[in-house]
Amino acid sequence: MCGIVGVTGKENAVDILLNGLGRLEYRGYDSAGIYVNDQNGKEYLVKEKGRIADLKKEITPDVHGTTGIGHTRWATHGVPSKENAHPHVSADGRYYLVHNGVIGNFAQLKKEYLEDVTFVSDTDTEVIVQLIAKFARKGLSTKEAFKKTLTLIDDSSSYSFLLVDHEEPDTLYVAKNKSPLLIGVGDGFNVVCSDAIAMLDQTHDFVELVDGEIVVVKPESVTIENMEGNQINRKPFHVDTDASEAEKGAYPYYMLKEIDEQPGVMRNLIEHYIAEDGSIKIDEELLKRLNQAQRLYIVAAGTSYHAGLVGKELFERLTNIPTEVHVASEFAYNPPLLAEHPFFIFLTQSGETADSRQVLSQVNEWGYPSLTITNVANSTLSREATYTLLLYAGPEIAVASTKAYTGQIALEAILAKAMGKLKNIDKAENFNVAKELTFVANGMQALVDGKSEIKEIAEDVLATTRNAFYIGRSIDYDIAQEAALKLKEVSYVQTEGFASGELKHGTIALIEKDTPVIAIITDEKTAKHTRSNTQEVLARGARVIYIASRQLAVAGDQIILPEVHPLLTPLLAIIPCQLLAYYTSLQRGYDVDKPRNLAKSVTVE
Ligand code: F6R
Repeated sequence: MCGIVGVTGKENAVDILLNGLGRLEYRGYDSAGIYVNDQNGKEYLVKEKGRIADLKKEITPDVHGTTGIGHTRWATHGVPSKENAHPHVSADGRYYLVHNGVIGNFAQLKKEYLEDVTFVSDTDTEVIVQLIAKFARKGLSTKEAFKKTLTLIDDSSSYSFLLVDHEEPDTLYVAKNKSPLLIGVGDGFNVVCSDAIAMLDQTHDFVELVDGEIVVVKPESVTIENMEGNQINRKPFHVDTDASEAEKGAYPYYMLKEIDEQPGVMRNLIEHYIAEDGSIKIDEELLKRLNQAQRLYIVAAGTSYHAGLVGKELFERLTNIPTEVHVASEFAYNPPLLAEHPFFIFLTQSGETADSRQVLSQVNEWGYPSLTITNVANSTLSREATYTLLLYAGPEIAVASTKAYTGQIALEAILAKAMGKLKNIDKAENFNVAKELTFVANGMQALVDGKSEIKEIAEDVLATTRNAFYIGRSIDYDIAQEAALKLKEVSYVQTEGFASGELKHGTIALIEKDTPVIAIITDEKTAKHTRSNTQEVLARGARVIYIASRQLAVAGDQIILPEVHPLLTPLLAIIPCQLLAYYTSLQRGYDVDKPRNLAKSVTVE
């Protein structure tokens, strides 16, 4: 989604903004722009469609300044173009604005207040900057004009705004609602960013903003006020992440780096959550409240939803608590009939996904307890849930999620074990999660070390195909769904993750000569049945690739997985699937880290 950066200080703002935008590139975008001023009346607005590299080509050596704002845009209103790129400027040239989010009532605001203004873009953002300018022309101060504009924006909207008034060139005006935004605190300068990663080379101390506040940022001060004008003091929090953790290092792409990091993610989770004596370091109050639930509701989107599907197996088998898994955007408008004592678990790598946040707001209104499992400390869903557990997976930069998926499943396993143990459930008592996850880490290492074989299969079977299927039953169906999402999102091969028994009820009509069908076989109960389903597709000309656990493998299976606990097989089976997706994308010449149309951290509904 859109990325926002801003700085006010004494150094070269152009470099700070461009470095910051570069660090946000991973989020997905289609145009970019910056505005800078030098405090002496010189100001520059440069925007371009395409990549930051395209923007850089437009920045001539004379462009300079010490205050500025920058933006990467992921189109929502209006096509990707230079005109629609941010920053947007008011018609009188006084105000410059960048925006992340969507203004639900922009058309009505435009009609009601701005019929006399000529617009140069199709964006909702331009309506806001024109409104601020209009109210300022009527005599309001910038802060009052900004505030008045915010009060006109309807509840369906989401935004984070960063505004500069060229009459106060060292000041940034900031406000947010539902979209993330942080102030980074420096010595003689301050920065603003939608993700701390953007500014880690400037500062590690950030102040979080709350919806409904107005913040005035100058080089030496940050003033936070609520809408009533009362000042709010909030201490910065420290972000430990090293800026280099967000670098690719020797890797050609982040996705490959993050696939390779997964054994380390398992080990980090063991270290953070399991003590030497095997006891689990999770707040007992959280475990008790989870165990009091009649039913668990896991709510998530995309890959995190798929991690939730595996979570259901873990929670039901190890804690005996019925568990439902819901796609957040569906739950938001069509919630199921709830149990009397529900407990909600939100799975979200970024902690910022608007669909999931919408459900959490509803859950908070209902007054039910919740837990967010996330990779980003202090993210919105982490702040707003009753409890948080962190993945400690390091920044996930590639748009396609890999290490967060396996991290989420591993943490669900640790949590389910702790809950089950507290309830004295035998299966949980006997599940030595530290030992089992260590086996997983070793198995993952063996699989990533053997990646050249997977590359060959991708080249042989997937390089030119139009469509493909992943099939499996039970827990293997859960894996198939995530494997299919991975392949389709980075290689654009139309891929379905299918319950193998269900194929014959219609979808088998799509199988033709050489259609790739990748069968996942890790579940003992259903292995035989999935194999028999592969015979049905083989008989219709499909090319079948088998990914099978060692104990269930037969001669001729192409990818053999090391043996691990039956509830943890998704952690291994997904590795070759991630690698198949990665190599297929490269084979087809795509930018695997930034697939078309996609964004990391989807902050609009
Ligand atoms: C796919 C992918 C997405 C995210 C989804 C939810 O590879 O990354 O499907 O999983 O947008 O994001 P989070 O987990 O940040 O809530």
